[in-house]
Amino acid sequence: MHKHKINPPQTAFDHLELREFQMLASYISEYSGIKMPPTKKTMLEGRLRRRLRATGIATFAEYCRYLFDEDGLESEAIFLIDAVTTNKTDFFREANHFDVLKNVIVPDLAEGGVADLRIWSAACSTGAEPYTMAMVLEEAVEERQLRSYSVLATDLSTDVLASARKGIYPTSMLKPVPAPLRRKYVLEPKDPEMDCMRIHPRLRSRVGFARMNLMDEAYPVEEAVHVIFCRNVLIYFDKPTQAKVLSRLCDCLATGGYLTIGHSETISGFGLPLRMISNTVFQRL
Ligand SMILES: C[S@@+](CC[C@H](N)C(=O)[O-])C[C@H]1O[C@@H](n2cnc3c(N)ncnc32)[C@H](O)[C@@H]1O
Repeated sequence: MHKHKINPPQTAFDHLELREFQMLASYISEYSGIKMPPTKKTMLEGRLRRRLRATGIATFAEYCRYLFDEDGLESEAIFLIDAVTTNKTDFFREANHFDVLKNVIVPDLAEGGVADLRIWSAACSTGAEPYTMAMVLEEAVEERQLRSYSVLATDLSTDVLASARKGIYPTSMLKPVPAPLRRKYVLEPKDPEMDCMRIHPRLRSRVGFARMNLMDEAYPVEEAVHVIFCRNVLIYFDKPTQAKVLSRLCDCLATGGYLTIGHSETISGFGLPLRMISNTVFQRL
């Protein structure tokens, strides 16, 4: 049988020259705070190959020329950043944080007179974190601990925000949601063949999504919030950037409000106006 020779696309063999990697890496880390040491070269190549295919640009050299010599950055920056962000997330991820929210933070704030709770998921990825917050707070409203609540959910990546707004997830992703909450707040598809579920519109209406860069000098939070979750994003930043981000988050937090970071992250050494109340959960002084 005659075999056709298939020519793989040129990009499959192309590699980033060190100089190209350095140009991209310094742009990415300056813009997003994400550290880009030389060990990330292979990861960047893999992710940008997909972007090259999508744009029809044949080589990394051509892509870099387009970005840096032909003013392509202005329109391409969003896609470049979407390509390099790591968006892993889960419902009830690091579940003890949601226990602390329910059993410590909400009762304490309510006792202090907070009836309408404002909470912020400051690197919300595809939405599992803010929708988990909404499930916990919806229960608190039902139990009359709170009158109402609103969730602000921000991220740098436009891709994840578009998917978060839809609120549709593969069924397997909803497994960590306790069955009683799943029954109340997650809708089964009309077509049983579809292996996905949608967050209830009541919850979706409580979560406002917006694009925001934690590297911005000032955060557009008009009224101080009572709770901030900024989890599993600080690890991508270097220490000076972590210090600046955390200090700006503290400025957005009401006195007596709470900040939660990821389990593998720390605030130690930054001299912030916070006291620890539980592992990786802090109260604003
Ligand atoms: C690993 S996810 C964490 C999601 C969620 N907080 C959790 O713990 O499940 C990290 C998120 O941080 C976002 N991110 C990275 N750099 C950012 C920046 N400078 N400003 C805002 N978000 C950023 C990424 O787009 C990504 O969605």
